Amino acid sequence: MPKRITEGDLALLAFAREVQGRAYVPYSNFRVGAAVYAGGEIFQGVNVENAAYGSTICAERAAAMAAITAGYTDIEAIAVCGDSESPCVPCGACRQFLAEFDPTMRVIMGGKTDAVDVMRLDELLPEAFVRGYLDEDTGEDEE
Ligand code: THU
Repeated sequence: MPKRITEGDLALLAFAREVQGRAYVPYSNFRVGAAVYAGGEIFQGVNVENAAYGSTICAERAAAMAAITAGYTDIEAIAVCGDSESPCVPCGACRQFLAEFDPTMRVIMGGKTDAVDVMRLDELLPEAFVRGYLDEDTGEDEE
């Protein structure tokens, strides 16, 4: 269910939009900026493409990596801004990557227009594979 948009959401989205121009996108030319809010600080990221296309890193994961590298794993929100007309959603791999840190985090999405969507990560990715499943491994099938 889309959520009410707060001033904080728009502020975080502005940080995502601010950094979008630094995306390295010689192949798709599709620029994405992301901003993570963690530990009371903002961490930005852009998509970085590669001649081996599969080695490309999305903006969301780049921003999350910056937060984690700075010592903040408690991610409260992420904003993503893409070159699309409609608000840009995080790809499936990024949803799974982010669910590791908090499946309830706020995801703020923007594009080339003023339209903004806000959802919880677990609405975008219900039933994420999380650490709890590994804890359920009884080890009984090991030799
Ligand atoms: N991309 C992102 O950075 N985030 C997304 O959520 C969707 C896709 C990037 C990857 C690639 O560089 C370009 O957008 C086109 O897929």
